[in-house]
Amino acid sequence: MNRVPRHVAIIMDGNGRWAKAQGRDRSEGHRAGVDALHTMLEAANKLGIRYVTCYTFSTENWNRPQKEIDALMYLIGFAVQRETQNLLDHDISLKVIGDMDRLPASARQALDDCIAKTAHCKYGSLILAISYSSRWEITRMAQRLAHDVAAGRITPDQVDEQAVSQRLCTDGIPDPELLIRTGGEQRISNYLLWQIAYSELYFTDIYWPDFGEAELFDAIVDYQSRERRFGKTSAQVQAENK
Ligand code: IPE
Ligand code: IPE
Ligand code: MG
Repeated sequence: MNRVPRHVAIIMDGNGRWAKAQGRDRSEGHRAGVDALHTMLEAANKLGIRYVTCYTFSTENWNRPQKEIDALMYLIGFAVQRETQNLLDHDISLKVIGDMDRLPASARQALDDCIAKTAHCKYGSLILAISYSSRWEITRMAQRLAHDVAAGRITPDQVDEQAVSQRLCTDGIPDPELLIRTGGEQRISNYLLWQIAYSELYFTDIYWPDFGEAELFDAIVDYQSRERRFGKTSAQVQAENK
């Protein structure tokens, strides 16, 4: 328990294949995925993980069939309403990263409502990446920097890593120490490219609806076996940890 990540980012993948394997509709996979999210949040809380960032809907997911998009947007509103009390009980605030303007009003309203109700929570945050992609976020950051330089608020030479971080959606949130992707693919799919620069990556074949407490614990134990060197040598790291 003494080396639990503060922030875990998750790519919740495999809902569709989970449903297909049982001869069910993809939307039922997403429905089961919402329950898996609840289970995972409880488990993360038990471990003392303070920040969880979940890839819920990517910019690229807007290219899915409209029927599936509608089901996902409905589920987002439903899940957020259902989880609000739970978040309050655990003192966890909801945050959303992504292009909220593209969301249907009902999903947006449920999210805004939960964000407002949990804004005072201090223990940690559940961050939902919705209508999010890293390239969208980084492009927006570049626009903000350009505006700030043009307006004379900062000079070009003042553009440093902090100036970049502050203009990303994740301003104020520590970078994830661990990124988990379920569903068997070993790719990042346009997720948190800046923020995961030094994250440990954990890939599992388990489909997201089957990812429970035991699976999260496995991922954390695997993380704890890694030596995070940040460019240094193993001997240096071991001397620092003595
Ligand atoms: C992840 O599951 C959820 C979203 C992308 C919204 P998928 O829907 O991508 O499931 P697979 O990858 O088709 O199995
Ligand atoms: C990534 O999953 C996005 C989410 C989990 C929300 P996808 O299933 O959309 O990723 P790709 O397209 O297979 O890389
Ligand atoms: Mg997928």
